[in-house]
Amino acid sequence: MGVVTCITSGKGGVGKSSLCAGLGAALAKRGRRVLLIDGDAGLPALDLFLSCAEERVYDIADVVAGRAAVKDALYPCPWEERLWLLPAPSQEKDCISPLVMRQVMDLLIPYYDHILIDCPAGLGTGFRSAASAAQRALVVATPDPVCIRASAKTRLELELAGVSQQRLVINRFHAESFRSQKVFSDLDAVIDTAGIRLIAVIPEDPELPLREASGLPLPLHSKAAMAFARLAARLEGEQIPLASLHKF
Ligand SMILES: Nc1ncnc2c1ncn2[C@@H]1O[C@H](COP(=O)(O)OP(=O)(O)OP(=O)(O)O)[C@@H](O)[C@H]1O
Ligand SMILES: [Mg+2]
Repeated sequence: MGVVTCITSGKGGVGKSSLCAGLGAALAKRGRRVLLIDGDAGLPALDLFLSCAEERVYDIADVVAGRAAVKDALYPCPWEERLWLLPAPSQEKDCISPLVMRQVMDLLIPYYDHILIDCPAGLGTGFRSAASAAQRALVVATPDPVCIRASAKTRLELELAGVSQQRLVINRFHAESFRSQKVFSDLDAVIDTAGIRLIAVIPEDPELPLREASGLPLPLHSKAAMAFARLAARLEGEQIPLASLHKF
């Protein structure tokens, strides 16, 4: 039986889909069977990041409506063994309800070690569906005040949805920009404001948008790929110290 993790943020554009793809690949590299569910109805991204867009015929809404068998809507990632995608509907009106999302999860969970649900921006139906089907959440935030305030709100909404196991992932961290911003004295101040325990800091990595745009994997030794690998290990219970942040 696998574990279902939703990847959320409240605020848009902070790196949820990037984390979902990068962490999914890192877990698959550890030998796990991983399914990514794109929960961003209307604005899907993961089919492009995983280079499945050309093959994509069916999505989760087709499965729910009975137009496709679930096996026909699961697309293997061409560059990562053991990593699959269940795409999001292309129209927002086809967003999956919380009840149906839980039913889909019950169907899929026996076949995977990890299911990662990529939430849309905001705290609407897409967020609630993902949260209602998840056992734990990763709250992604960039280290700026607007985003950290959104994380604190997301934490409360997750609690209302019954997801008490939450961890904070700080994304796009760049030590010099962080210091020069002079809003937070240090990362502890960021964590205190969000009110969520930190599990990873992912550095700003110019390689990431380039690779995503071409649907290619990150080089194994890129800064972001190494951070995703450390996060994967921590999620599976390994004691891995945070990398030295001055390097980021
Ligand atoms: N660590 C990083 N280093 C550099 N660029 C990054 C990093 N993380 C994300 N990005 C870039 O930031 C942009 C937004 O990322 P992404 O689409 O993953 O965010 P999102 O939270 O899923 O957005 P949305 O809320 O619209 O779904 C993309 O261009 C992505 O390549
Ligand atoms: Mg996204």
